Amino acid sequence: MPRKEDKSSKSKEKRQKRKEEQMKIKLAQEKVDIANRLEDPLATFPAFQTFIKDGLLVQFQTKKVTDLDESVREWIFDLTKRNMKEKYETCSWGWNEKKKKEEMMDERAWYLIAKTDANDFIGFSHFRFDIDEGLEVLYCYELQLETIVQKRGLGKFMMQIIELIAFKNDMKKVVLTVLKNNPNSGFFKKMNYKLDESSPEDSDYETIPYEILSKLNKKLLSND
Ligand SMILES: CC(C)(COP(=O)(O)OP(=O)(O)OC[C@H]1O[C@@H](n2cnc3c(N)ncnc32)[C@H](O)[C@@H]1OP(=O)(O)O)[C@@H](O)C(=O)NCCC(=O)NCCS
Repeated sequence: MPRKEDKSSKSKEKRQKRKEEQMKIKLAQEKVDIANRLEDPLATFPAFQTFIKDGLLVQFQTKKVTDLDESVREWIFDLTKRNMKEKYETCSWGWNEKKKKEEMMDERAWYLIAKTDANDFIGFSHFRFDIDEGLEVLYCYELQLETIVQKRGLGKFMMQIIELIAFKNDMKKVVLTVLKNNPNSGFFKKMNYKLDESSPEDSDYETIPYEILSKLNKKLLSND
């Protein structure tokens, strides 16, 4: 039988741990709330507001979904459908238009929008500042480019913007979900995204058709 003092010191330890855990989540939530109150997360990175390469001149903006024009919201959804519908349909997720729209138009959604100098919309990323597994993270929900501008370095540049925004705002990591049947998951691996510890362990493609990748904020690693 453990001695009485041992028992009480153990429960004290447990209480202390729980308190620390609650405090950690409270601080994480504060960071997420501060980031979500930003007017324009891209404003502090003037060098990353323009991309020029091989005759392609692109300008970027970050906006909350609620500040986007209806026509832009329609284009965002249409591009996602054109790029992804088939991939969703050929795995157990299926393509559920209503559910996808709800996710993309959720009021917590932020958008990084890419436009040419001729005012053509050519790509976007949907991201959110959020709590994931108890940590403050930037969750990248989508990165979608029009076919005509793919494979010209724009996706890489946009991921750099996403990471700058995440780490400037003290998010612990950038997290994203990729479909295993999407050959473009290779792009994120090329960008040094690694299997996240929260990625479900399952070799059965039919049961779990996705994996979770992430990149850690090196600046904050030593604080844990
Ligand atoms: C995936 C996507 C965002 C990549 O953007 P991109 O502008 O075409 O890619 P980039 O030209 O910036 O490529 C950057 C690097 O990744 C590599 N890369 C690009 N696509 C790749 C792929 N499918 N597999 C492996 N590597 C890839 C490039 O070779 C390049 O390498 P380098 O830095 O050594 O030159 C874009 O192709 C796209 O929108 N595809 C359709 C939608 C989609 O699948 N989105 C991802 C959802 S999970």
